[in-house]
Amino acid sequence: MRTTVGIIGGGPAGLLLARLLHRTGIDCVLLEARDREYVEHRQRAGMLEQGTVDALHEADAAERLHAEGLVHQGIELRFDRERHHIDFPTLTGGRTVTIYAQTEIVKDLVALQLAEGPPLLFEAEALVIEKPESASPLVRFVHEGREQTLTCDWVVGCDGFHGISRDTFPDAVSRSYAHDYPYSWLGILADVAPSCEELIYARGEAGFALHSMRSPHVSRLYLQVPNGTDADDWPDDRIWDELAARFAIDADWTLRRGPITAKSVTPMRSYVHEPMRHGRLLLAGDAAHIVPPTGAKGLNLAVSDVRVLGRAFAALHRTGSEELLDAYSQMCLARVWQATRFSYDMTKMLHAQPDGDAFESRLQLARLRRIAASRHAAAELAANYTGLPLMP
Ligand code: FAD
Ligand code: DHB
Repeated sequence: MRTTVGIIGGGPAGLLLARLLHRTGIDCVLLEARDREYVEHRQRAGMLEQGTVDALHEADAAERLHAEGLVHQGIELRFDRERHHIDFPTLTGGRTVTIYAQTEIVKDLVALQLAEGPPLLFEAEALVIEKPESASPLVRFVHEGREQTLTCDWVVGCDGFHGISRDTFPDAVSRSYAHDYPYSWLGILADVAPSCEELIYARGEAGFALHSMRSPHVSRLYLQVPNGTDADDWPDDRIWDELAARFAIDADWTLRRGPITAKSVTPMRSYVHEPMRHGRLLLAGDAAHIVPPTGAKGLNLAVSDVRVLGRAFAALHRTGSEELLDAYSQMCLARVWQATRFSYDMTKMLHAQPDGDAFESRLQLARLRRIAASRHAAAELAANYTGLPLMP
């Protein structure tokens, strides 16, 4: 098989890139290791920056997002049994965010791709990328029990953190930067109306909790737990009791409880791989970088990488110039590091220290009080949360 751009991975990054290339008239083939059912139901992100909504709109893939997405004007911070509203439009000159699940973005993009092309192969696992430095790199993959070859002009690795693309970079050019956090998140989905209109980020004495949502009838909540936690050790009542304690404030407020339909534990890590291009192999999304989920940057970064890449391929197609592809890695990494900094700061500010360091704990409260008291500090949080410009 031969194509112009071979895309490995059918998560949000790979699917959106395929859509952008198709609309520019560039042919591509997308290889996804898992089946359709699996990729459409993997519970993950839900908070979209305005730029992410705009990107899906420009790709003509936002019809359901516009109809069903929940536009949010701000978030609530809770600490010391108090609540503080951070109002995004006032602090950012009108910006908002949208709640719409990653599962739904993936379903929308898969449906468009199957209806309009380009080829999307499920259960097609890339094994190895060969000759990335040459003008015709190739991907060996297994599909329907047969090993096959995809010869490309360019290969884009959108195969997430555990994919194969990043490992194709020679050691001599690869640099990676990582930080592990001493806690994880236990995430649940529950069939119950959200107990809030805005997302709540709470620094409880016993740890962090986040209240998000998927629809007016489905809540999504997260709880800080120790690394190595087994979700089976958390029966439903224990989860609700712990969430209620962490969200508790002195004012009148109650957490609604309902049947829990999904439970999973996610470890937290920051990781950046540099550069994001080697020869004719480019990385996008989690394949190149991951952030802890506090602040909701992962999916948004994947989309912004792909926006830059879509423009770069469009320029190549239109003018033959590789200038934007040459600048791709540097342009994305500037934004990636800003999001890495923000996610790290949010994480460190809101999670309880497992070692109980009282000095750190006082600093966390001082940071939170500063945000509550200072318009400048709140505006800085709002600017980062709603999304920095595509090229900061
Ligand atoms: P992925 O979604 O990981 O997709 C990679 C794809 O590649 C997968 O489908 C995989 O099957 C496929 N693949 C892997 N190896 C191969 C191979 N060898 N051959 C072929 N295919 C392969 N981000 C936000 O912005 N906002 C949030 O609110 C948010 N919340 C989150 C909450 C949780 C609990 C978690 C875990 C993550 C959250 N994120 C959030 C992060 C976000 O989900 C990821 O950043 C996003 O999925 C990245 O998309 P991607 O396409 O780069 O990678
Ligand atoms: C969601 C996840 C996050 O990590 C976050 O910061 C906000 C919302 C969510 O899944 O809805």
